[in-house]
Amino acid sequence: MATVWQPPLPPIYRELSDPELRIRIESAKQALGRRVVVLGHHYQQDDIVDFADFTGDSFELSRRAADQKDAEFVVFCGVHFMAESADILTDESVKVLLPDLGAGCSMADMANLEQTEEAWAQLQATCPDQLIVPITYMNSSAAIKAFVGEYGGAVCTSSNCRNVLEWALAGGANAHGSSPVGSVKRVKILFFPDQHLGRNTAFAMGFPLDKMVVWDPREDLGGNTPEQIQNADFVLWKGHCSVHALFRPEHIDDVRRKHPDMKVIVHPECKWEVVQKADMAGSTAYIVEQVRKAAPGAQWAIGTEVHLVNRLKNQHPDQHIVVLSDCQCLCTTMFRIDLPHLCWVLENLVDGTVLNQIKVDAHTRKWSLVALERMLSIKGTGNPIGKKQPVGTTVD
Ligand code: 13P
Ligand code: SF4
Repeated sequence: MATVWQPPLPPIYRELSDPELRIRIESAKQALGRRVVVLGHHYQQDDIVDFADFTGDSFELSRRAADQKDAEFVVFCGVHFMAESADILTDESVKVLLPDLGAGCSMADMANLEQTEEAWAQLQATCPDQLIVPITYMNSSAAIKAFVGEYGGAVCTSSNCRNVLEWALAGGANAHGSSPVGSVKRVKILFFPDQHLGRNTAFAMGFPLDKMVVWDPREDLGGNTPEQIQNADFVLWKGHCSVHALFRPEHIDDVRRKHPDMKVIVHPECKWEVVQKADMAGSTAYIVEQVRKAAPGAQWAIGTEVHLVNRLKNQHPDQHIVVLSDCQCLCTTMFRIDLPHLCWVLENLVDGTVLNQIKVDAHTRKWSLVALERMLSIKGTGNPIGKKQPVGTTVD
């Protein structure tokens, strides 16, 4: 994440009660009318989701941001990389605000541009006869998105990762006049920054684990031999989500013992061992949809951020829903967006002051837009990606 610093809130916003904050947010939103659109990720607190004009997973919120033609301001209730992407996808005239600048993502911070350029140079030197297509998960900085855009790749989210990888394996955008796919010996994917999403998706597509290597940016050749790299179809960046890492296979064993009829559904940021033991895996939107479609009496253990699990529990009292682990997995950075911060940015907008604007520089914007537009053009929202499915299988 770019170096950012969240100044302390004016004390008044900490002194107001929640009902007072709610009234003030409502009236600021009314005063701003169509000039402002509030976007809320599924992991936000209920208090925030209540004020969101649109709620969704990363893919859906990017689409919503790109659709904003009339608004002057997008207030993004999510984390920094999401607000950056919204800034890239909206017209220059739209200002994107993140209510708390401290709302970053530890996974996105696990890959920086310098490490990426170094890895790219080493991979090109090690595999001169292969076409390497860089793909980055949405959970990455704008600089990494720009890098993949410039080098023929795309962004993916957890809801279209498989489709983006299929596109990449067919050569991606094959930028810079590289040899056409038919004439290169092999296509290799360099996947940032979540090794688990990359591994889970590639495995579901039919690639064995021994065709994937992990790239540790602190080591020469990522900690691999040249042969290991040449033989791999996927080079997976050594990054992970510290929230989803808390779910372990033993949690699923425990659920199976105690609740044999319970279905286990997890986010693909969970480790491969967890996804393999689960019944289903998919993006936050996919999880929401499976629960929405289920019959009364359905039982779920859900492996994702606790605010989403608790919301689903409250929305579906006729189902039995629990969070997969007792650790109450909380994304502390998402949690930084709260009523006081939302009230503070909205009231300042009413007074004509734009706070906490997220602005991506022109060069980064140009190429990251290319990478994001490629992502938006590749459909696939909601595909389950945990279990092995032959490449090309259509999943709904
Ligand atoms: P989704 O794309 O499923 O919304 O996930 C985003 C995220 O950060 C999950 O940790
Ligand atoms: Fe980042 Fe994990 Fe939080 Fe998602 S849940 S925003 S990947 S730290």
